[in-house]
Amino acid sequence: MAFARQKGYFLTSLATLMILSVCLTYLAYREYTSLLPTTTPNPTSRQTNRRSTGLRPGVEKMPHMQRSALPRFNRSISSFSEDFSSRFYSVWTDDASQSARKTGNDITVVFWNAPGWRPRCPSMPQCALTADRQQYENADAVLFWFKSLPHVYDKDFFPKTRPSHQRWIYYVRDCPHFTRDTDFASYGGVFNWTMSYRNDSDVLAHWGHITEAYHQLAQHPADPNRNYAKEKSKLIIWYVSHCYKYMSRFPYATELMKHIQVDVFGRCGNINKTCPRNDGRCFREHIRQYKFYLAFEDFKCVDYITEKYWDNSLKNDAVPVVLGAPRSDFERLTPPNSYIHVDDFESPEALAKYLKYLDQNDEEYNKYFAWKTQPPKNPLPSLFEGDLCELCKKLSNVSPTERKVYTDIDRWWRGQNYEFCEPLVYTGPFMDPRYLIFYN
Ligand SMILES: *[C@@H]1O[C@H](CO)[C@@H](O)[C@H](O)[C@H]1NC(C)=O
Ligand SMILES: *[C@@H]1O[C@H](CO)[C@@H](O)[C@H](O)[C@H]1NC(C)=O
Ligand SMILES: *[C@@H]1O[C@H](CO)[C@@H](O)[C@H](O)[C@H]1NC(C)=O
Ligand SMILES: *[C@@H]1O[C@H](CO)[C@@H](O)[C@H](O)[C@H]1NC(C)=O
Repeated sequence: MAFARQKGYFLTSLATLMILSVCLTYLAYREYTSLLPTTTPNPTSRQTNRRSTGLRPGVEKMPHMQRSALPRFNRSISSFSEDFSSRFYSVWTDDASQSARKTGNDITVVFWNAPGWRPRCPSMPQCALTADRQQYENADAVLFWFKSLPHVYDKDFFPKTRPSHQRWIYYVRDCPHFTRDTDFASYGGVFNWTMSYRNDSDVLAHWGHITEAYHQLAQHPADPNRNYAKEKSKLIIWYVSHCYKYMSRFPYATELMKHIQVDVFGRCGNINKTCPRNDGRCFREHIRQYKFYLAFEDFKCVDYITEKYWDNSLKNDAVPVVLGAPRSDFERLTPPNSYIHVDDFESPEALAKYLKYLDQNDEEYNKYFAWKTQPPKNPLPSLFEGDLCELCKKLSNVSPTERKVYTDIDRWWRGQNYEFCEPLVYTGPFMDPRYLIFYN
């Protein structure tokens, strides 16, 4: 009996792990497949010499986008006062018994505008996740995916009725600059909860989590004497596909490439040598040949550390060179000394010099993997099982009479003075093809 239950548990865990790894592979692919064009955007101007790096002639003339002109982005959530987020929502208790949900322990979540993938949480079968809008009247929560929300609040887009116990949840994976076409000021009083990568969200929707990294190591311990440098024949790789000049990672990378060789793949680089869509194995093996991976985020925003760090580099044993969230966020959220932060260097040239030094010094290079054999002393929080399971857990634990609504989701999301992201030098349409950039 106990054995049968254990076996069932084992199988469920196995299934969960398999599904998790499929999802992670998908996420790792997100950036460079989401925008892969069906045809090469501008074939005539792409050169075939893949050894050369740097920008095409003419591209460097972007005086208004020089990095030195940008403020160094050094804010972090912890530098805000304790009750930062509570200024933007109201909480109350609704004791009227008829307003509490009546179903037993089962939970129903309707994903109102689900993107292509199917929402699932295999470890909690009592939590039904569906994209079937017909079920909304009985739902405990309705999820709204950030990518297809109306630009201005429009009641016709949303469910017609709204039971008072039901939670409407703003579900977002990217950072505020990605949602800049949405007028969140018009969304006051709409959402009860938020689900994002920010740790002050009601439900965490991380790109990766330190517990997951150490959990995997507990199952497959790392060899403390392994020489990672010896396994690598190449230096720096960058898979990049959102290629718009106004992103501050481009002036930085361009300057860096003047001083050191970087192999660029994805939409912005050598597409022909890019792994085929959905070939996770090819992608992983490609990256593993390199010592360093440029984990340069699209935008610099607090807490915003994505699959570029967690999946593309860390999991493939390529030391992440990070540009994005401030160093203090990395210190809080990622394994110690697992990355090289660009802000630690006076200039891209100084960074290039350091990377060359590490290339010549295996012992120093291998120190970036030491965290793998030094688990943290403090106990880790419970294993992060993915956004939707976190949601199910939270829904099953919340008090039935607890109420909350975001009165000013705009300021919660972007910061009281819009300080959560480095300001943009360009505020036009996100994917304006005039600003596309390519590396050879
Ligand atoms: C990529 O392949 C296409 C078609 O095979 C070819 O025309 C083009 O020159 C190649 N580009 C590069 C950068 O190798
Ligand atoms: C952040 O930047 C401001 C202004 O540039 C500076 O005064 C402050 O010392 C910096 N803070 C940190 C933690 O680096
Ligand atoms: C979020 O991070 C801050 C800063 O480290 C920390 O004090 C706080 O406890 C975290 N909140 C949650 C909900 O994890
Ligand atoms: C959600 O917000 C709406 C609108 O303010 C409110 O009527 C409802 O009671 C809230 N529900 C929960 C569960 O917080």
